Amino acid sequence: MQDLERIVQEAVALFASISDPAGLEQAKARYLGKTGSLTEAMKALGKLPSEQRREAGRLVNEAKDAIESGLNERRAAIANAKLEGRLAQEALDVTLPGRGASRGALHPATRTLERIERLFRSIGFEAADGPEIESDFHNFTALNQPEHHPARSMHDTFYLKGEGQNVLLRTHTSPIQVRYMQAHRERYKDQASMPEIRIIAPGRVYRVDSDATHSPMFHQVEGLWIGESVSFADLKGVLTLFLRRFFEDDSIRTRFRPSFFPFTEPSAEVDMSCVFCGGDGCRVCSHTGWLEIAGSGQVHPNVLRHCGIDSERYIGFAFGMGPDRLTMLRYGINDLRLFYDGDLRFLSQFA
Ligand code: DAH
Repeated sequence: MQDLERIVQEAVALFASISDPAGLEQAKARYLGKTGSLTEAMKALGKLPSEQRREAGRLVNEAKDAIESGLNERRAAIANAKLEGRLAQEALDVTLPGRGASRGALHPATRTLERIERLFRSIGFEAADGPEIESDFHNFTALNQPEHHPARSMHDTFYLKGEGQNVLLRTHTSPIQVRYMQAHRERYKDQASMPEIRIIAPGRVYRVDSDATHSPMFHQVEGLWIGESVSFADLKGVLTLFLRRFFEDDSIRTRFRPSFFPFTEPSAEVDMSCVFCGGDGCRVCSHTGWLEIAGSGQVHPNVLRHCGIDSERYIGFAFGMGPDRLTMLRYGINDLRLFYDGDLRFLSQFA
């Protein structure tokens, strides 16, 4: 019976060395199969004298039980190891952020345009729009810049190929003034007088230009107010109010410097007191205390005439602002190109 103990030990050791289920079943056959060593031992029982048979039978059964339980343990261990392996492989790091769709947000430049539009709407201005591919007439001629006018060369214009010199990417939002006035005149042509025009027109404009403060595509916001008695004082009032609301700072002051634009007469450059130093002078305002933010002026009679509006009766002002500058000032951004690089690390700060 020494033998049986050895068989059990050998079997358990063999099972322990096996780690795949099929191999384990084959090993089982070596002991419990038809010609397995334990099966042989059982067969041998019959040849024993009857007085030994009972005791020998008990020992063989014990050995069989031991082998079977060793086998079951090993089966369970193999299955368990397999499961552990799978769990490790498919492990979920629950501390990682989810992969769900992240929320988009408006671009800082768009936020500024919408803010400007909202503030002007609140004082009775209507939002207007126009095409970015413009005719030479709307972009220049109607704005009192006939062909060969020297002021045209101040705008480095993108002309569209194959379209001669007649179609271009608008260099400013001022053509929206022209389109709006023409349409307005047309709409009220049968009436004795036309209602006032009060529009704000944000949009993209294009010029051949690129450095830290210039991008070939940038934004402008055009403003126009035409009526029977609209004055420079109104212009100053509207722009000062707007800037104070935009920057949420009632101490902002504005000043008008004489300037030249073909489509306004007189013309003025609009400066506001520096939002960083309050006018004392700092790096942002080049130590002048002032920041230039818009061109403006009284709409030139020639422009009104080009739009079919009676320049003897109607008068008003226009302005053109650089909202990208306002965005940079509001958020403290020092390089305009960051707006257009599409870098989410930059953009997501405004979400
Ligand atoms: N269109 C001008 C530019 O792009 C800006 C401008 C100046 C617009 C004076 C105006 C204005 O409406 O009155 O440089």
